[in-house]
Amino acid sequence: MQLVATELFHRFDKTREVLRGVSLTVQADKTSTAVVAPSGSGKTTLLAIIGGLLPPTSGEVHVESGSRSMSVRDQVSWVFQTTGLLSRRSAWDNAAMGASALGRPRQEIESSVDEALAAVGLSDHANERAGILSGGEAQRLGVARAVATGLPFILADEPTGQLDRANSRLVADALFEAVQVAAGGLVLVTHDLDLASRCDRTLSLLDGKLRE
Ligand SMILES: Nc1ncnc2c1ncn2[C@@H]1O[C@H](COP(=O)(O)OP(=O)(O)OP(=O)(O)O)[C@@H](O)[C@H]1O
Ligand SMILES: [Mg+2]
Repeated sequence: MQLVATELFHRFDKTREVLRGVSLTVQADKTSTAVVAPSGSGKTTLLAIIGGLLPPTSGEVHVESGSRSMSVRDQVSWVFQTTGLLSRRSAWDNAAMGASALGRPRQEIESSVDEALAAVGLSDHANERAGILSGGEAQRLGVARAVATGLPFILADEPTGQLDRANSRLVADALFEAVQVAAGGLVLVTHDLDLASRCDRTLSLLDGKLRE
């Protein structure tokens, strides 16, 4: 299975083109890709497009498995740069949101959510409202929510941006482990060069183009 983006161009207004011909193939083969680039260079835009959340101005994204084409949205889970949690719901409910939306059996959801919360060090916070979590705890919860889906592709937008070294490692381990278990592919955007160096390849986004 692979996630294929071809010749993506994107502009938000008439003047500035954020993406200028980006092509990227992400294999579901337990590998990881880091995208490293300065603030404002279009990383979040690129992830939104390859995850099927934002239609590109031109270009195309699809998931293929053998000769079959599949909906991108059904195969991709997200770690958003702004965590997008429901503040009045418990940490556990938030972590279960993605997995529940997939209609998984209750028992399966329960075990994958418990495991994902443990992996990011939040088991003790499971019953707390997400709204009272610290910024870093909220960020780890966003990672748990993606990991608990078990979907093949994980797109993570600066997943360690607010974390200390130990928790960055915990979150990275959880993401790498998730793509191993799902035999999937991980794309992560980061400014953390330690984290980028743990990925199988690193790409930079410069002047709207991806480079090795
Ligand atoms: N909805 C939008 N409408 C107009 N312009 C936008 C929109 N979203 C992003 N942009 C612009 O597109 C450019 C790229 O934004 P993007 O969020 O993709 O950057 P980024 O590389 O993720 O930056 P950061 O590292 O700060 O998160 C920025 O100049 C931003 O202002
Ligand atoms: Mg961004």
